[in-house]
Amino acid sequence: MQKETIIILASSRSHGDTAKVVQQLQQIIHCDMVDLNDYDISYYDYEHANKDDDFLPLMKRIINDYQNVIFATPVYWYTMSGILKVFFDRISDLLTIEKDLGRQLRGKGFGAISCCMNGSIDQEFWHPFVKTAGYLGMRYLGNIHVDSLENLPLLEDFRNKIIT
Ligand SMILES: Cc1cc2nc3c(=O)[nH]c(=O)nc-3n(C[C@H](O)[C@H](O)[C@H](O)COP(=O)(O)O)c2cc1C
Repeated sequence: MQKETIIILASSRSHGDTAKVVQQLQQIIHCDMVDLNDYDISYYDYEHANKDDDFLPLMKRIINDYQNVIFATPVYWYTMSGILKVFFDRISDLLTIEKDLGRQLRGKGFGAISCCMNGSIDQEFWHPFVKTAGYLGMRYLGNIHVDSLENLPLLEDFRNKIIT
């Protein structure tokens, strides 16, 4: 049976600020989480020589088991973390060597959380998230920026978006 939601943690710190936000959200949503630091996922390769790394098995599990995928990233140089960008690049594998898997993303929920303690972002930050969800035929559930661990009401709002 498919579970509801998985959060993909994409920070260079497994126990840093973004991880703390994810922990708080997990208490509200009661969902699973994967930390990309636990996986060996290499840069996109046009020759697909890296097809046996951890990306495809992880993606298969996410697609089979979950209805919503929430990406959680710190703000690094005004944009998503490098770890998350590499992960997004690898989604191109699902448009080439694993098309059937890629098609199964259609209709799933896609959300995003950015984290930067005491820092703000521009609306443009969300552009690659919105466009990626659209390209993949996923439902954009929304996004939140967290700049303080006191932002629990914001997380509650986000939970409501995911549930509807
Ligand atoms: C490589 C790097 C780049 C960063 N770039 C920005 C930035 O562009 N704007 C900003 O406000 N904070 C920036 N920060 C600060 C982080 O966004 C902030 O400390 C965040 O809470 C760290 O989350 P983490 O513990 O999950 O890495 C940067 C930090 C690092 C390590």
